Amino acid sequence: MCGIVAYIGPKEAYPILIKGLHRLEYRGYDSAGVALLNGNLRLYKAQGKVSELENLVSDKDISGNIGIAHTRWATHGEPNDINAHPHFSPSKKLAIIHNGIIENYSTLKSELINRGYVFDSNTDTEVLIHLIEDIQINENVNLVEAVQIALNQVIGAYAIVVISQDYPDMLIAAKKGSPLVIGIGEGEFLVASDATPIIDYTKNVVYLDDEEIAILNRNCELKIKTIKNKDKTPYVHKLEMQLNTLEKGGFEHFMLKEIYEQPRSIKDSMRGRLNAQKGIVSLGGIIDYEMKLINAKRIIIIACGTSWHAGLVGEYLFEDLTRIPVEVEYASEFRYRNPVIYEDDVVIAISQSGETADTLAAIELAKSKGATIIGICNVVGSSIARATHAGSYTHAGPEIGVASTKAFTAQVTILTLMALSIGSKKGTISTSKFYQLINEIENIPEKVEKTLKLSEKIKAIAYEFKDARNFLYLGRGYNFPVALEGALKLKEISYIHAEGYPAAEMKHGPIALIDNEMPVVVVATNKGTYEKVLSNIEEVRARKGKIIAIVTEGDVEVKKLADYVIEIPETQEMLVPILATIPLQLLSYYIAVMRGCNVDMPRNLAKSVTVE
Ligand code: AGP
Ligand code: GLU
Repeated sequence: MCGIVAYIGPKEAYPILIKGLHRLEYRGYDSAGVALLNGNLRLYKAQGKVSELENLVSDKDISGNIGIAHTRWATHGEPNDINAHPHFSPSKKLAIIHNGIIENYSTLKSELINRGYVFDSNTDTEVLIHLIEDIQINENVNLVEAVQIALNQVIGAYAIVVISQDYPDMLIAAKKGSPLVIGIGEGEFLVASDATPIIDYTKNVVYLDDEEIAILNRNCELKIKTIKNKDKTPYVHKLEMQLNTLEKGGFEHFMLKEIYEQPRSIKDSMRGRLNAQKGIVSLGGIIDYEMKLINAKRIIIIACGTSWHAGLVGEYLFEDLTRIPVEVEYASEFRYRNPVIYEDDVVIAISQSGETADTLAAIELAKSKGATIIGICNVVGSSIARATHAGSYTHAGPEIGVASTKAFTAQVTILTLMALSIGSKKGTISTSKFYQLINEIENIPEKVEKTLKLSEKIKAIAYEFKDARNFLYLGRGYNFPVALEGALKLKEISYIHAEGYPAAEMKHGPIALIDNEMPVVVVATNKGTYEKVLSNIEEVRARKGKIIAIVTEGDVEVKKLADYVIEIPETQEMLVPILATIPLQLLSYYIAVMRGCNVDMPRNLAKSVTVE
């Protein structure tokens, strides 16, 4: 969850490390720190944002052309100066940064305490660096061997970088379960938890695999071994990411920029995959596994958070268009409940970051039972993308705002194309319906553009409700996942309690919450269960709830009942989720801004959840 960045080369390390930390701050941001080596090893760390660290070091010695830096998302020990990374070893000659969780840290810590070691922090990370130094001294081995021996004792997940005063020309990086990328520049190396701090310097990267350890030397030598000391050959990938896609482009926040990017990101996710004139839908990345999908007895979709909501839309789409039964699972539940998995199951794993630890573990489990795994990821080269048999990238471009927006609509777009392609090949969708849908998908980016024009109206509604303490979101059919996603967006960035519910389920409980202070957002577009949703709106109205309705342009009936209506363009029922989500993203965004919240980095959250 944290951001790791490290540098070794001819340049001053500090400016590179700080710039990298700013790029990575979206991942975790409760504290930050840096260790620099220039003769002696100096370590500075501060609670809060990277800017706090910059203030702290303003009058300090920041020289050195080798260093490591970190922004933390606390798992063990509260976010404060002491628990911030890097952590020193007892002699203060070694320092470490770490992403992940050392699950057996408490056993390891007790053993070290029994041997007289004292700890400054409450982190699991400090235990690891103490252990490494203890091994180095007591087993009389070099640093690389000590790291290998220590990591063989560790249970859990880690991405680490170790720096040592005794080895001023070397950095050691290793990973298991948490991502780590090495950038190979001109006479220099960078290490980071994702490629964003690296692209300024090089497009050549090596992704470490689990239980691999990289030894980066100042003489530009990169050695990769496993923690069992087997030599590995580094495989150099070319980054395709563009630098300008990481900047805010004139928007106040990344989230707003990303909301507004959706006409383009949706188009990008369809590019080369859809040709409505010729009636072709083809996802190149899954072509070799298409027969598996066509013949699947069951599809299991695994994901977390917003990606799980996209998965729910996928369930409706696949069942409608391919008649294959679909189960949508929270990856975190699936992996621990001894699920029944057959060899002819196809598992679709959805993840923006491609690094979500629970999703990754669920994939490994399904794979070990012989199922076929298809990935839908946004981050190219991410761990999930690499762990799946085949997949389709969403190509939405880097998503920096912690609240996922454009990744969701891109995921739904890919799921729609996938279901259409399989349905048409399987013969479970009529030719006329197929053409109707693919023609309409082509129009979706334009309709998203039109929906975004509603922002001033949505802002005015946000102003009315910015002080609300609770919100209820209702929808049915394809709009049920939209309601869930709308509620999640609001809680994440405005900290207002919000619940998403299937509209008809409201009367089985949540209706008790409704009074004249309760805003209820109802997604009530004109297809599917429209009439039924009208009755649900009546039920809310009868209890004086304040109704904000998302309706189809030209709607008459809901308008009579709702306090506020937001009219989105007419489209096919299956494509409504893409359009209906947009006003809900904007509503949460404006409410959060009006409440003074940090929308891009909401409290307690992190962009990629690489711990379980
Ligand atoms: C989205 O707004 C969230 N921050 C979160 O729910 C996210 O969708 C979830 O952590 C899954 O992430 P992934 O798509 O990168 O796997
Ligand atoms: N488990 C470590 C800690 O709590 C690392 C957390 C992180 O990934 O930022 O300090």
